Amino acid sequence: MEIGSCAGVVAGSGSVAGAASGGPFLVGRPGHWWAARESAHTLGVETPPLRWIDPPEGPAIALLDQTRLPAAEAIVTCGDVPALVDAIRRLVVRGAPMLGVAGAFGVALAAYRGDDVAAAAAEIEQARPTAVNLGWGVRRALAAYRRALHNQTDGPERVAARAVVAEARSIEAEDAAASAAMAENGLALVPEGARVLTHCNTGALVSGGEGTAFAVILAAHRAGRLAKLWIDETRPLLQGARLTAYEAQRAGMPHAVLADSAAASLLAAGAVDIILTGADRIAADGSVANKVGTYGLAVLASYHGVPFVVVAPVSTVDLDTPEGAAIKVEQRPADEVTSLAGVRIAPEETPGYNPAFDVTPPELITAIVTERGVAKPPTAGTLRVLTAGSGKLDGAAAAVYVERWGP
Ligand code: MRU
Repeated sequence: MEIGSCAGVVAGSGSVAGAASGGPFLVGRPGHWWAARESAHTLGVETPPLRWIDPPEGPAIALLDQTRLPAAEAIVTCGDVPALVDAIRRLVVRGAPMLGVAGAFGVALAAYRGDDVAAAAAEIEQARPTAVNLGWGVRRALAAYRRALHNQTDGPERVAARAVVAEARSIEAEDAAASAAMAENGLALVPEGARVLTHCNTGALVSGGEGTAFAVILAAHRAGRLAKLWIDETRPLLQGARLTAYEAQRAGMPHAVLADSAAASLLAAGAVDIILTGADRIAADGSVANKVGTYGLAVLASYHGVPFVVVAPVSTVDLDTPEGAAIKVEQRPADEVTSLAGVRIAPEETPGYNPAFDVTPPELITAIVTERGVAKPPTAGTLRVLTAGSGKLDGAAAAVYVERWGP
C-alpha cells in the first residue's frame, strides 16, 4: 500500500471493498471523475466515505474519492496531514459533517506520526473556511489530545494519539445519531406525495449516518411519502448530478436531475412542494451558508410560497458568527467554472468567478431542522434555545424543542 502522500486508487467494486477493508491497494492516477470514465461500473459497493487505518498498516485515512463518483469508486489514502489537506481542498472528502470527522481523524494522524499536533490542527482547519464543522471537529480532537497528554505519564504520545482516534470515532457516531434524529424531526414537515427539490449533496457521503437533508428525504421515501426528488445538478462541480443522483438511484427513489437554472420554471409550474437543503455554517441570527445556488432557491421559494427548509446538526450552528455578512465564503479556482468535465468552455483569457457558497438570510428560511428540534422560524432566539445546554455545541443534547411535529 502507498501511504505518505495521497495514493489514488482506481478499482472495480471488489477491489475497492478490499481496499476499504485493508486489502491491497491498486495504484492509479489521482484526478477527477471525468478522467476515470474507463472505470465506470455498477454502483453496488458499500464503501464508507472515510475509514481510519490503525498502525501498523497505518496510521492513515482512506477516503472514497468523491471527485470521481459515480464514474469510478476509488480510494485515496492519506498518510500525512498535507495529503489530507490536499484531499479536503480537492473535495475528495467534502460536506460539512464529514469534514468535521475528517478533520478530527487528521489530528489523530498528526498525533500518531509525532508531528507538531497544534500546527497540523491549524493547517487542517484552514483547508476550507466556510464549513464550520471542519474547525469544530479539529478543535474537539485537539482538546482530546491535550487532555490525554496531561493525564498520562507512560508512553504519552501514543496514548494521546489513541485518545484522538477515540474522539474522532465519537464525532462520527454522534453525527450518525444526529442524522437519525434530524430525519425523524424533518419527516414531519414533508407532506404526503411530496415533490421535493434539493441542492448539492447531503447524504451518507457527507455523514457518519444517512446525512442531513437527504436523511429526511430518505425517511420520506421509506414512509411512502416521496412522489419525486428533483435534484439540482449543482454547478460547477455537479455534486447533485453526480453524488445525490448516485445516492437516490441506489435508494430506489423516483428522481430526476435538472440544470440549476431550470428550478425557477419548475417552481412556477407548481411542481415542487418543499425544498430541503443542508448547511455549511449557520450564523447566530439564522443566516445559512450553503452551496452556491441555495440563496437563489430560497428567493424562488419565497416568491412561489413553497417551504424552504434547512437540515443541519447543531454542530453546524456557529454562535460566534453573529450574522450572515460575517461568514467567510470560500472562493475556489476559476477553472472549475470556465471548464466543464476537464474541457475549457470559456475563451482562454476569460476569468472566472467561483464562490463555493452563498448566504441565505433567515427571513427566507421556513425552518431549520436539527437533531435537537426544529427552529421555526429560525431566529437568534430559537437557535439559542436549540443550542442551549452547556454553552458549547458539543455538549449533551438539550431536551428542548422550539417546535415539533408528530406525536
Ligand atoms: O463544497 P461542498 O461539496 O463541500 O459543499 C457541500 C454543501 O454545500 C452541503 O450542502 C453542506 O455541506 C451540507 S452537507 C450535509
